[in-house]
Amino acid sequence: VKMADCDGEGAQSPLQLYERLTAQGETVRGLKTAKAEKSEIESAVQFLLKLKLEYKQVTGQDYKAGCPPPENLVLHDNGPTAEGATDEDEVNPWSVSTTNAKGVDYDKLIVRFGSNKVDKDLVDRIEKVSGQQPHRFLRRGIFFSHRDMHQVLDAYEKHKSFYLYTGRGPSSQAMHVGHLIPFIFTKWLQDVFDIPLVVQLTDDEKYLWKDLSVEECHRFAVENAKDIIACGFDVNKTFIFSDLDYMGSSPEFYRNVVRIQKHVTFNQVKGIFGFTDSDCIGKISFPAIQAAPSFSNSFPNIFGDRKDIQCLIPCAIDQDPYFRMTRDVAPRIGYPKPALLHSTFFPALQGAQTKMSASDANSSIFLTDTPKQIKNKINKHAFSGGKDTVEEHRQFGGNADVDVSFMYLTFFLEDDEQLEKIRQDYTSGALLTGELKKILIETLQPMITTHQERRKQVTDETVKQFMTPRPLNFHF
Ligand code: TYM
Repeated sequence: VKMADCDGEGAQSPLQLYERLTAQGETVRGLKTAKAEKSEIESAVQFLLKLKLEYKQVTGQDYKAGCPPPENLVLHDNGPTAEGATDEDEVNPWSVSTTNAKGVDYDKLIVRFGSNKVDKDLVDRIEKVSGQQPHRFLRRGIFFSHRDMHQVLDAYEKHKSFYLYTGRGPSSQAMHVGHLIPFIFTKWLQDVFDIPLVVQLTDDEKYLWKDLSVEECHRFAVENAKDIIACGFDVNKTFIFSDLDYMGSSPEFYRNVVRIQKHVTFNQVKGIFGFTDSDCIGKISFPAIQAAPSFSNSFPNIFGDRKDIQCLIPCAIDQDPYFRMTRDVAPRIGYPKPALLHSTFFPALQGAQTKMSASDANSSIFLTDTPKQIKNKINKHAFSGGKDTVEEHRQFGGNADVDVSFMYLTFFLEDDEQLEKIRQDYTSGALLTGELKKILIETLQPMITTHQERRKQVTDETVKQFMTPRPLNFHF
C-alpha cells in the first residue's frame, strides 16, 4: 500500500495521516451513534483500518488516539523485518507477496480485510446442511475466510436457495494448477447444494491490462472455458460467458454495470485498487463489470427479472477487493450483497512467498505439462524444507511448514491420515525430501493426465452449449 493509494491526494506526512485517522475515528463513532446503515458503518470501519495499516507502515508504530507522531520520526522503509514482516504482505488482484517462507499471514489478512474466519463451527454447519463430508479444502483451512456464509446457510435451511459465481481472467492459453483451486471447490459446492453457477471470463479485463489484442483475449477465453468444463461442471446448471460476447448481448447485464458505475467514485476505486491518474479509463470502470454477475437479474435467461437471489462467490482472497466494492454498492442499488468464500494461494514452486503465477513458467505446474515435465519441475524447483544432507535430515528432520511439496499435498492428497503420517515422518526425519517429492509427483501426474483426457473430450459443440445464454435447471 502506497500512501497515495488511499485518497489520491498524493503522499501525506505522518501528521496528516494521524489527523485523518482521528477524523475517521470520529466519523465511525458518529455513524454508530446515529445508527447509520450497517453497510455505511462497515465501509467507514474498513477505511479506518486501511488508514491504520498505512499509518503503521509509514511510521512503524501503531496509531494511538491522543498521541500524534513525533516530528522527528524516522520513516519506516517498508522493507522486510527480521521476524518475517507479515504486516507488509501484499495481496491484491495483481500481486501476492510476503517475506515469510510459510506464506501470507492469513489470520492477519482476515483482520485487514474485515472478513470472517472459516472456523470449525462453520465447517460443521456446512456438513450438517449439505449432508456431505466437508471437502478437504474446508477440512484443511484452504478455504479459510468468508463473508455472510451463515446467512446463506440460514436461508438454505429455510429452502431459500442461492447461486454460485466465479471467474477467470484469460491471459493465456495455459492455466496452472493454482487456477483450478476455486473451480474444484465450486464444482463440489454445485454438487452438494445442487445449484446453478455462472462463470465470468474477463477477456475484456485481460485486454485492458495486458499487451494482447481483443481477438487473442477472446480466443483464450474459449480455450480456458475448456479447462473449466473439464472440471466436471453440469451443463444443465452452468453458464460460462465471455464479457466481450455477453456484455453486448444482454441489456440487463449492462444496466447493472451502469448502476454500479454510478455508485462508485474515482476516489473509491483509487483507494481500493491503487489506480492512478495515468491508468486508462477502461481499467477504472472495469470493477463494475466484475461486480455485475453478483446480481441475479444480470442473467434474465436464468433468473428472469428476480433480483433477490443470493449469490455466493468462491475465489482466492486476491479477488476480494472487487467484492468489497460490490458489497458496498449492493444495498444502495437495492440488491442483496454477495456472500464469499476465500481460498489461500497455491504457492509458487520456489516457495510460499508468492502465489503460483502464469507469467513465470518455472513457478508453475501447468495443466498442459507432461508427466515428465511435472517430475522435473518438482525435483528441480520445488522449495524443500529438508536438511542439506541425509545425515542431518535423519537427525533433525525437515520443516513441513515451509516445504512446497508438502504444501501441495495438503491441497491434493485426499486421505487425512496419510497426510498426517507424511507430515510426522518428514518432521521426524524418517521421510527424506526425495521421497516426499516422489509422493507428490505420483499424486499430481495422474491428476493432470486425467484433466488432459477430460479436456480432450470437450468439443467446440460442448463449449458452445455452456456459453449459450439459456435457462438452467434448478428448483428455487
Ligand atoms: P484469475 O484468472 O487471476 O484467477 C482465476 C481464479 O483463480 C484464483 N487463483 C488462485 N487460487 C489459488 N492459488 C493461486 N495461486 C491462484 N491464482 C489465481 C483467483 O483468485 C480466481 O478465483 N479477475 C479475475 C476473474 C474473475 C473472477 C470473478 C474470479 C472475474 N469474476 C469472480 C473469481 C470470482 C481473474 O483475473 O482471475
